[in-house]
Amino acid sequence: MIKLGVNVDHVATLRQARGERYPDPVAWSLEAEKAGADSITVHLREDRRHIQERDVIALLALSQTRINLEIAASPDGVAWALAHPPSDCCLVPEKREELTTEGGLDVQHHGQKIREVIQALTQGGIRVSLFIDPVEQQIHAAKACGAKVVELHTGRYAQAQDREHQAKELSQLKQAAKVADGLGLIVHAGHGLHYHNVEEVAAIGPIVELNIGHAIISRAVFTGLTEAVVTMKQLMRAAAVR
Ligand code: PXP
Repeated sequence: MIKLGVNVDHVATLRQARGERYPDPVAWSLEAEKAGADSITVHLREDRRHIQERDVIALLALSQTRINLEIAASPDGVAWALAHPPSDCCLVPEKREELTTEGGLDVQHHGQKIREVIQALTQGGIRVSLFIDPVEQQIHAAKACGAKVVELHTGRYAQAQDREHQAKELSQLKQAAKVADGLGLIVHAGHGLHYHNVEEVAAIGPIVELNIGHAIISRAVFTGLTEAVVTMKQLMRAAAVR
């Protein structure tokens, strides 16, 4: 069954906007788990703009599912993760000026560094995934570095302005998923997925997990979080079995 990882960064964004104690991303995560989230994803950005260290520590103590901690492949990120080991770490590129993670990791050109980070985290008992663009060279590079999991960046598919471009991006995702699966990699995907574009991605056979944040939290403002999580999971599951 395809799994849903719920990214709760933007609950923290709302809290940080006013420097308040609410809304609390940890309490939100526990409710999301009750609604059916299979894991919780948090990005501990270097600039700490949304998720704070205390959030991750509380989540690690209280979560009933898996915690997927997104970090940059930097010495500070790795040291932090090893001191507070989650079940999963997703390595993502980070730029301070970006609104959100803009592109995939360039594993092809930073293979040695990424290999060392994967080794260190794996020795710490953490399963590592690499957030990469759906490009064959990056998938082969991920495999060569010792990654077990890749998360395919769906941002270009999500942002396609018309059906023709969307179909092109979708076929690139399908091809990338096939190549990754053929190499024995576990295939996840995420970024920019929402209630109207998720089904085609969920239907891609090798993809076993989607990580989705902004759309779910935005919908929850209107419907409450249970409906937002349940509906997303229903859409994904119905599409995945077609
Ligand atoms: N996966 C990764 C690696 C991400 O960096 C993000 C955004 O933080 C997501 C998934 C979720 O993206 P969105 O909030 O657009 O659903």
